[in-house]
Amino acid sequence: MVTAGLRRAVAHLNAPFGVLDRDAFDANAAALRDRAGGLPIRVASKSLRVPAAIERVLARDGFAGVLAFSLAEALALHARGIRDIVVAYPSVDRTALAALAAAPEAAAHITLMVDHPDQLDLIEQAAAAAAPEAVLRVCIDIDGSLRLAGLHIGARRSPLHEIGQVLALVGDIGARQRVRLVGLMCYEGQIAGVPNAGWQPRQAMLRRLQSHSVRELAERRNAIVAAVRAEAELTFVNGGGTGSLETSAAEGSLTEVAAGSGLFAPASFDRFAHFRHTPAAYFTAPVVRIPAPDWVTVSGGGWIASGAAAADRLPTVAWPTDLAPSGSEGVGEVQTPLTGRGARQLRIGDHVFFRHAKAGELAEHLSRFHVVAGGTIVDTWETYRGLGWNFETGMNEQPRDAAGSPEQKEHAHDNHSPQLVGQRLVPSADPPHAQQRR
Ligand SMILES: Cc1ncc(COP(=O)(O)O)c(C=O)c1O
Repeated sequence: MVTAGLRRAVAHLNAPFGVLDRDAFDANAAALRDRAGGLPIRVASKSLRVPAAIERVLARDGFAGVLAFSLAEALALHARGIRDIVVAYPSVDRTALAALAAAPEAAAHITLMVDHPDQLDLIEQAAAAAAPEAVLRVCIDIDGSLRLAGLHIGARRSPLHEIGQVLALVGDIGARQRVRLVGLMCYEGQIAGVPNAGWQPRQAMLRRLQSHSVRELAERRNAIVAAVRAEAELTFVNGGGTGSLETSAAEGSLTEVAAGSGLFAPASFDRFAHFRHTPAAYFTAPVVRIPAPDWVTVSGGGWIASGAAAADRLPTVAWPTDLAPSGSEGVGEVQTPLTGRGARQLRIGDHVFFRHAKAGELAEHLSRFHVVAGGTIVDTWETYRGLGWNFETGMNEQPRDAAGSPEQKEHAHDNHSPQLVGQRLVPSADPPHAQQRR
């Protein structure tokens, strides 16, 4: 909630800027822990993208380890001192794989995600070229979606749905020299990430489907985990997300759950039937004109979330109440007209407070968050973007074969592998042929 105290604390700042309500953030951390039924929560970093926020929550009881979204990110977090990082998505960034293999300390604390033998080939090739003796930790991603009447309900992630498929990959990993199976992950996005509150027939049907999926997963996930444990020693079994902590933890197959969004509590997490976290992250935009009575126009405002394009991807006005974008213009690239009675209390130069639809994407628009607690600014937390971290391109800006391909073996020990400089992961030098290609 945007209280008068929060508004006063940042009233002198030049908008646009980001604000984090630290009291709400801490309350959300406590609430997530209560919902996780005693299982440790691995912090989903993609839903924060603010190292200081990740570190703050990791310092609390009930939170352990990070679920990262890219290997380059995991290496950068490791360089900051964060340990026990699982990369939640497959990594084919050969430069980052070579960097991991060449850094034994990082390789001991970072786990790669796999769901296909070709990913393992790629990992082994990149590792072999960079450090022949390296053994990299891998986790198998298991499909957590529901298959019902020929429908696929859930995200398209891993192709491994049945025990036999998973065991085949377990056997494949066991036969390889350069990878070691340490964990399983099975994320049920259709429960954890789909808001289900409301009494429309559609939402009632959704809740029934989610309950069905919980029951199906309890059986299938437990059976798969037991079958894999008979073949391999596992350090962790991960599942769940902000929207599913209770059911994921109660199932009995997991050793940990994952969550991130619930800490910032963006607008897309308002509409769950079984929990409500406190909004903690905002961005502001300044009123730049008043086009008509009951209208204001703010600069910017068009920070839209990813996903299937629809109204629920738009930012929402958090303060003043009774103010919203117009149906005809939506939120704009350089300006956003807003209409409603809330406009009456605004003058040119005043701040409008928005919430992003999703948690971590907000940080991609901001260099830092002003952190407010007890009605004053107590800190400034840089975002990945503020630190110059860009993992959407990141190390992939390098040519695909800059490290790891067999023909590059002779370069394996020259200075083309990435290095950690300060807290950034940067390639130390372009190979000469890469410069020519540009
Ligand atoms: C593998 C995995 N686990 C868990 C989550 C849950 O994260 P959050 O709590 O931010 O919804 C995600 C988010 O997409 C994910 O990809």
